[in-house]
Amino acid sequence: MNRRELLKKSAAGLAAATTAQTLGCTALSLMRAESLRRLATKRGLLLGAAFSSNAFRSDPQYGKILAHEFNCLVGENNMKMNALQPLRGKFNFSRADTMLMFASRHNMKVRGVPLVWHISLPPWVKDKTFARKEALDILREHVLTVAGHFRGRVFAWDVVNEGLNDRGPGLMQKSVWYRSIGPDYIEKAYHWAHEADPDALLFYNDYNMDGTSPKTDRCYEWIKELLARKVPIHGIGLQYHTRVDAIVSSESIARNIRRFNDLGLAVHITELDVWVPAKATPEHFQLQATVYRDIIRTALAARDCPVVMLWGFTDRYSWVPWTSGGAYGQALIFDEDYRIKAAYEAIATALRET
Ligand code: XIL
Repeated sequence: MNRRELLKKSAAGLAAATTAQTLGCTALSLMRAESLRRLATKRGLLLGAAFSSNAFRSDPQYGKILAHEFNCLVGENNMKMNALQPLRGKFNFSRADTMLMFASRHNMKVRGVPLVWHISLPPWVKDKTFARKEALDILREHVLTVAGHFRGRVFAWDVVNEGLNDRGPGLMQKSVWYRSIGPDYIEKAYHWAHEADPDALLFYNDYNMDGTSPKTDRCYEWIKELLARKVPIHGIGLQYHTRVDAIVSSESIARNIRRFNDLGLAVHITELDVWVPAKATPEHFQLQATVYRDIIRTALAARDCPVVMLWGFTDRYSWVPWTSGGAYGQALIFDEDYRIKAAYEAIATALRET
């Protein structure tokens, strides 16, 4: 599915997009008529951000800026298994549904992530190993119930997230699903997701696959096998958590996107954030801006990379300081006070280029 088709339904949303005046909000970005959302929509790009349910509940600025600047959303945590099925057989969709209502009110599209992962599991699954039959029952019920609940409201799912191990050749992540079921849990998950929502685009999503690398090479060969076995996979999600001191070249990213496109698969950039060291200099922020600009350019130039999702949008709410043990931070395009950063301007610049 190309960018134009993806955007058809949300095009009306642009006209309805809220203006700075009606929001009565002081954030700088809201004073701009040319929001990133407007620019991205003009270019046929879905530009999105991860949605924090906690921030949305506690901070009124948060949702206003989100709806003004982006035309797409993804739950940062609200569709993970620990959120949706905290107790066996007891599903709780309330947080995710709140996000979906917000998205629908503002004509934003929604990616669903992830149906199957080995992290963010509820206590009744975490660190367990089940008999194969029981694990198949659990996974099948989870995938069918979740994809069924969101049917027609989520246009793309990361069905399996991070199924490949980072180390060593040919290794799968030794998750509870792998240990209990074996490698075929993956293809089963895609078939169940397809059964529950035949119109959703189904993605495989992973990290350290942004450019060409041994892990991406393994992924590429493995995905070819799954496609040959008629597993319903429609796209690859490249996470793109990156650090300014370990930048992947645009050429390498473009080459990687191209080869997946050549298999007939779409590519989405799914979790873009660009980490700067805790003791950041002005040069780090300039470099950060360049990385954001280049990835937008690369996506726009690609044959089929119609979606770029940021993993958040304000440094006020970001997983980076936590996950890096304080070594990195300030990875997003607004600072902690919702002021736009050079990275924001750089994305706008890339979107204005023809
Ligand atoms: C992260 C969230 O940002 C954190 O809040 C949470 O504690 C752990 O998960 N790859 C993924 C995302 O696919 O789901 C992760 O999100 C970041 C890495």
